[in-house]
Amino acid sequence: MTQMVYGFWISRSLQIMAELGIADIIGDEPKTAEELAKASGTHAPALRRMLRLLSGLGVLIKDEQTQAFGLTELGEMLRKDSPGSVYGSLRAHGHLLSWSAWGDLVSSLKTGQPSVEKFMGDSFFGYLSSHPEDAAIFNGSMAAYQSLNAPAVVGAYDFSQVRSVVDVGGGTGTLLGHILQSHPHLKGALFELPHVKAEATARLNGMGLGNRCQVLEGDFFAKIPAGHDVYILSQILHDWDDERSLKILTNMREAMGPQSKLLIVETVLPGDNVQHFGNLYDMAMLVLVGGRERTGPEYSALVEKAGLRVHRVLPTYMPPSVVEVVPA
Ligand SMILES: C[S@@+](CC[C@H](N)C(=O)[O-])C[C@H]1O[C@@H](n2cnc3c(N)ncnc32)[C@H](O)[C@@H]1O
Repeated sequence: MTQMVYGFWISRSLQIMAELGIADIIGDEPKTAEELAKASGTHAPALRRMLRLLSGLGVLIKDEQTQAFGLTELGEMLRKDSPGSVYGSLRAHGHLLSWSAWGDLVSSLKTGQPSVEKFMGDSFFGYLSSHPEDAAIFNGSMAAYQSLNAPAVVGAYDFSQVRSVVDVGGGTGTLLGHILQSHPHLKGALFELPHVKAEATARLNGMGLGNRCQVLEGDFFAKIPAGHDVYILSQILHDWDDERSLKILTNMREAMGPQSKLLIVETVLPGDNVQHFGNLYDMAMLVLVGGRERTGPEYSALVEKAGLRVHRVLPTYMPPSVVEVVPA
């Protein structure tokens, strides 16, 4: 109980450590509190206390002789470019996303609406489209999270008989890029809002996929491009309530041919009385975007209303499952 009560003190400390770039300042060379304070523009005695907290949590390790703090294996994950880096998530959740939204959780519980809109004065994605710096932080956190999920999705689904894949709302292309790199026979398309196009194009070109992949601008509430074998909706439906999700799925059904498959990549909730990461994510969707995570039966009921049916649910070794959906 104590851990739950004080838990946010720890996550806030990690967020601020990321914001100040402490892990990258330490890098491979342990540094004293004074050196770190100078490089990060902080008050050395105060920072020294935070470093003690983090060394007690196993994120840093202090050398008693030199008084320098180095990164442990866990602490390495706070560096921007380390494998499995949580830097992007900490930046996003410490900055515009969770911090203000979770702070006003009570308003979401009273209204059922995303609390974050009060601070942003717009819907979440509307705000991002006109705030490029915040969009970059959000896209960075999604890309980091997706770089952990992408190998799990590729391992769970057999793309060998597929010719073309379109990732609808595919972010900056981490998942699609991973799928195409793992399957050289595949052609792909990323379908996104205009403000994401440049970053997605740069990432996919940087992965050497420019000749096999198009980046298409569009709005999935208006029209989804037709003629592909496999469609992906990864972490899209959880952003929206049932009514808006149904609109996306109806447009998806129109785009799909009789043999097309839709892969919904989402955390599928197990139900009550089970501790599950998805339950936390579900609350995050409430306060941020007004969306929701769903159980297996809830996904089945939703897709059926759009003339589709769940064919199978493939778990992965990461939180999201691959829900394979076909025309009914
Ligand atoms: C939660 S992110 C998921 C990104 C990516 N699919 C992933 O799994 O990491 C939701 C994405 O939906 C995109 N999006 C939001 N509204 C959209 C719309 N109306 N049409 C197309 N894309 C949209 C956003 O730009 C954002 O990249």
